[in-house]
Amino acid sequence: MNNAQQQNHHFAEAARDAVYQAIFSRRDVRGQFLPDAIPDEVLARILTAAHFAPSVGYMQPWSFVLIRDAGVKQRIHAAFSEANAEALQMFEGEKQEIYRELKLEGIIESPVNILITCDRDRAGPVVIGRTHIKAMDIYSSVCAVQNLWLAARSEGLGVGWVSIFHQAALKEILGLPERIIPIAYLCLGQVSHFYDKPELEAAGWRPRLPLDELVYFEQWGEREADGAEALKAALREAQGSAATHRRFAIKSR
Ligand SMILES: Cc1cc2nc3c(=O)[nH]c(=O)nc-3n(C[C@H](O)[C@H](O)[C@H](O)COP(=O)(O)O)c2cc1C
Repeated sequence: MNNAQQQNHHFAEAARDAVYQAIFSRRDVRGQFLPDAIPDEVLARILTAAHFAPSVGYMQPWSFVLIRDAGVKQRIHAAFSEANAEALQMFEGEKQEIYRELKLEGIIESPVNILITCDRDRAGPVVIGRTHIKAMDIYSSVCAVQNLWLAARSEGLGVGWVSIFHQAALKEILGLPERIIPIAYLCLGQVSHFYDKPELEAAGWRPRLPLDELVYFEQWGEREADGAEALKAALREAQGSAATHRRFAIKSR
């Protein structure tokens, strides 16, 4: 194999940068949706990205319920409002005051809502890879969510995940059969702008955790190892670049 062939599986620098750009500039969007319709070709690309996610045993357990009808959205919004009022009561003091001010959905304003589901029976009772940990099908559908989210960001579209529902309410409103689990209720649309930081971080709810404190070596909790300090310094540097949307400094191969 010659050198050029060996290099073929590497992304060109600009393509690699674009992948990281999508990851680091992706935001959960709630309040910045514009009403503009999403062209079918764009929606098709985003859904195809979701459909190309990894899945346990190649189960592809997802389906996509597209919601554009104002009446259906109103019912979903009412289900959110009921759950959100309950959620508010679960926080106390200052946290409750911050919570009260947060906008946590864009159901009505976004032109398209998408429910991504998981069919627990899609590939029969015994699935390769899912023989021991049954939740792997659910994790697979979540992979589809992330693919969709990043693809949408690369198309300049915002996505917001709304999870403050009673599952039974979602299932009832959208007519889901018993075996179908609602995984992610997503609001999708053009946006006026993307924030630089997660809104919860900006609101003082929680900071982004330092990655170098989350990496262990060989055993849970073990933070020391040969070369650990060098890796931790590199992690701090990379996290700093990501947070400020600076390019990673990448040494040539
Ligand atoms: C499983 C999951 C459920 C979420 N549910 C909600 C939600 O109900 N409402 C909301 O406003 N954001 C929701 N979010 C978005 C998170 O708040 C957001 O991802 C986090 O604050 C980080 O911000 P970022 O996505 O802009 O980086 C959810 C995200 C995930 C992954």
